[in-house]
Amino acid sequence: MNPDTRPQRDRLRLDAVSLRGMFNQQIHGSKRSLRSIEDFTEFEQRTAYFNGDQIRAIKKGMNVIDRLQVAHMAQIQNMIDFPPAPKLDPMTGRLDRARAGKQELAGEDLFFGKARCAACHQPPAYTDHMMHDLFLERFGAEADGPIKTFALRGIKDSPPYFHDGRLPTLEDSVNFFNLVGGLKLNREEKAALAAFMRAL
Ligand code: HEC
Repeated sequence: MNPDTRPQRDRLRLDAVSLRGMFNQQIHGSKRSLRSIEDFTEFEQRTAYFNGDQIRAIKKGMNVIDRLQVAHMAQIQNMIDFPPAPKLDPMTGRLDRARAGKQELAGEDLFFGKARCAACHQPPAYTDHMMHDLFLERFGAEADGPIKTFALRGIKDSPPYFHDGRLPTLEDSVNFFNLVGGLKLNREEKAALAAFMRAL
């Protein structure tokens, strides 16, 4: 989390998103959906911290980098892999049934079945490289609009969760989707989903 940012109505706190698996990410930025890492890098350097306000960015000292530097910065980011996940079958990105535990397998069944997580989080990276609007205003919360489906490979290593870090644990994110998706998961099912995500 960016430590110098206080949550305000027009300047929300943002999670410093993990760069794991960057080589295989198709869209960048939780809300901006920039289509290349080159564009994101350039954008971040120019104005990102001022939400597109060029005048304030210029006052700060706008850093316009040339295309060669952009290419180099993109290349290094495009080398970043996901951490190892020894329980996953490399051919399918799903659990290897010989290596995984009972609870993790139950969690996988829920993830692809009753809990419908795989509608958006698809293997191997466990993202669909798209944005989705969860319409949180249905529950009296602030409307976020469309947000990128973050990759769940290696997810256990990057708390807190969501673009604004609102959810401290994986259990919290299961509870979130249980509510938002009307899933009616029981305590055992929630624990199994969290165990599955820890194996990713
Ligand atoms: C309609 C598409 C959709 C479905 C279905 C869905 N997710 Fe997500 N998921 C998202 C989006 C979009 C985000 C980013 C939300 C945000 O940051 O505000 C997200 C974020 C997450 C995160 C946090 C990722 C991070 O890096 O912070 C976790 C964990 C997660 N989802 C787990 C689940 C689980 C478990 C299920 C099933 C119970 C599920 N999701 C179902 C779209 C979906």
